[in-house]
Amino acid sequence: MVGAPKKHFLPLLLFISLFALFFFSHYHNPSLPNPNPNFTPTETLISQNPTQPFTFLIKVLAFNRLDSLSRCLRSLSAAHYGGDTVHLHIYIDHFPPANDSSDLLDQKLEDSRRILDFADGFDWPFGGKAVHYRTANAGLQAQWLEAWWPSSDREFAFVVEDDLEVSPLFYKFVKAVILNYYYNATNSSPFIYGVSLQRPRFVPGKHGNKMRLEGEKKLFLYQLVGTWGQILFPKPWKEFRLWYDQHKTKGIRPFLDGMVTNGWYKKMGERIWTPWFIKFVHSRGYFNIYSNFQHERALSVSHRDAGVNYGKTAGPDSQLLSENSLDFNLLEMPSLSDLRWYDFCFREVFPGRVVRTLDELGPVLMSVQRQQTVMLVSVYGALETIIRNLLCHFERLGIRNYIFIGPQSDLLSDLARRGHPVIDADQLIHNIRESKSMRFQDSSASIMKDILVKAYVIKKCLDDGYNSWIVDANVLFVSNDMPHELVSSAEHFYAWKGSQVFSVRNSSAVKKLWGDGFLEKVAAKAGQVSSPQENKDFVDVVLKVLQKNGARISWVDEASYGMKIGANSFNQTSLEAGKKVIYWSGEMSPDVIQKRLGELNMWIVDGDYSCSAVVCTGS
Ligand SMILES: *[C@@H]1O[C@H](CO)[C@@H](O)[C@H](O)[C@H]1NC(C)=O
Ligand SMILES: *[C@@H]1O[C@H](CO)[C@@H](O)[C@H](O)[C@H]1NC(C)=O
Ligand SMILES: *[C@@H]1O[C@H](CO)[C@@H](O)[C@H](O)[C@H]1NC(C)=O
Ligand SMILES: *[C@@H]1O[C@H](CO)[C@@H](O)[C@H](O)[C@H]1NC(C)=O
Repeated sequence: MVGAPKKHFLPLLLFISLFALFFFSHYHNPSLPNPNPNFTPTETLISQNPTQPFTFLIKVLAFNRLDSLSRCLRSLSAAHYGGDTVHLHIYIDHFPPANDSSDLLDQKLEDSRRILDFADGFDWPFGGKAVHYRTANAGLQAQWLEAWWPSSDREFAFVVEDDLEVSPLFYKFVKAVILNYYYNATNSSPFIYGVSLQRPRFVPGKHGNKMRLEGEKKLFLYQLVGTWGQILFPKPWKEFRLWYDQHKTKGIRPFLDGMVTNGWYKKMGERIWTPWFIKFVHSRGYFNIYSNFQHERALSVSHRDAGVNYGKTAGPDSQLLSENSLDFNLLEMPSLSDLRWYDFCFREVFPGRVVRTLDELGPVLMSVQRQQTVMLVSVYGALETIIRNLLCHFERLGIRNYIFIGPQSDLLSDLARRGHPVIDADQLIHNIRESKSMRFQDSSASIMKDILVKAYVIKKCLDDGYNSWIVDANVLFVSNDMPHELVSSAEHFYAWKGSQVFSVRNSSAVKKLWGDGFLEKVAAKAGQVSSPQENKDFVDVVLKVLQKNGARISWVDEASYGMKIGANSFNQTSLEAGKKVIYWSGEMSPDVIQKRLGELNMWIVDGDYSCSAVVCTGS
């Protein structure tokens, strides 16, 4: 990156300064990465200070801007470390080869020597200082990535580009964050990858639009990395390095449609690193801690000095928070559950919505419903990949009123922690039994639990005035038409012949029907053990009970709405026949489903089973 001819980059540079971004810089690079992750670090690096249970490394990335580096280091050494040991590592990148005149080369060599002399002479009384001077130009990606390989889970790195300046208060804040959100076991999350000290300002999923921050909350979580002052946590960083290695080695590229950074990657390729990190964070569902100190104040500012990012100096992006301007308690750390979490669209996500008890059901249904309608999707018997693909379609269509029902499982907890509401059927059934709100034979069969939980949740929806739909995981909506039709349908019960979709309308008549004794009838019907060949699922059972009670069902032939996929492959034209849904039989093999959906451009998860795009509409 450093060596690229400047004129080549000018339009892009302009573009990037427009969006006031961070991303690449000039400087620096690599440390002495430990090639063996199992290597046990020597304890000598670990601080002697008993109140500091971690090692703190500052990684300064520099290149050829002595004035910038000097301002940066001075600000770092003016910070309050409260007696803690803090190590300083300075990475000085080499200039790239060029057919320059001998005079120009001498000038460049002289500049490098002055930077090195300055770094060598810089007094750092807080811990060890190390200078790493490269023999060749590293390029930005290697610079960031090789700057650190955590030598233990107690080591934290603060990566500082040379045109940054930090507040004297930065370390106090960072230490409080680490102690409160990393070391407090009841108040930490393995899905937080670090802390950004820069002022949050940009939303990559909305074409890089400016962020509009509301409210007074001083801390929040956001997925985007903030490269103007980023503290990295050891475990996620190590995970990222291994993930990067795996993908890069196999030639898998970090495309993520819908993100402004995707365009940067297409132009800049391997010269920048952030598209890789963003893709990793997206696929894992990780978050970064940000501060919102108001009045454009931050603990780290970028001077956006002239160089590769900026044709000419753009000036500081924010105001440094100083002791004089401090008008609040910087060390106040609310509990993690009181913080707000935001995705790449700066859309709030609500991790941990898990319904295990009857009391939890009402509030979650209320948060999930849209237009008084809730969509129940069962993960019983469905493959994880199918569920992940389904979620990407929900995101694409802006469908947000879904809730998953399933047995206790890693999949269910992962969905919940990424912000998708779930009902833990095992726990809820247990709770329903204990509360005697429904009498039924105990059964460990998961299909039985699925049936009972759905019947119960529909009852709760009716009690609270919501319409509900039961939607099979083997159905994908092509557009929003179908959901809209379902919502506006006046029918009490509406069922697909193949029982992939079943809807229950909120009305007093239906509520009465689904009232006293109905759940017991469903339980009894479901409990009638019949031949294993009988396709006994929720819709079959409920329809039998409803029909016995004289309810009128509106039937729909699914083939009139949708297209069933099967053994035959087909192409794009097949989809354009006005079909609103794609569906398939539960017996179809996963490979074939994936193949067919791929042919229809409906397989929109990537190799990590994360969505291949970020879609911000519907937020
Ligand atoms: C320097 O010039 C030579 C000959 O013109 C050319 O082959 C080479 O690629 C150039 N090197 C660089 C780094 O531009
Ligand atoms: C850990 O976090 C919880 C929740 O915020 C808090 O109540 C508790 O006091 C914290 N413990 C310590 C030792 O700070
Ligand atoms: C549900 O239906 C009842 C009875 O028809 C009606 O009074 C109520 O307003 C409906 N609830 C909602 C949220 O529309
Ligand atoms: C796509 O399907 C249509 C209709 O079945 C067919 O006429 C056309 O030849 C197919 N195209 C390709 C490329 O297979």
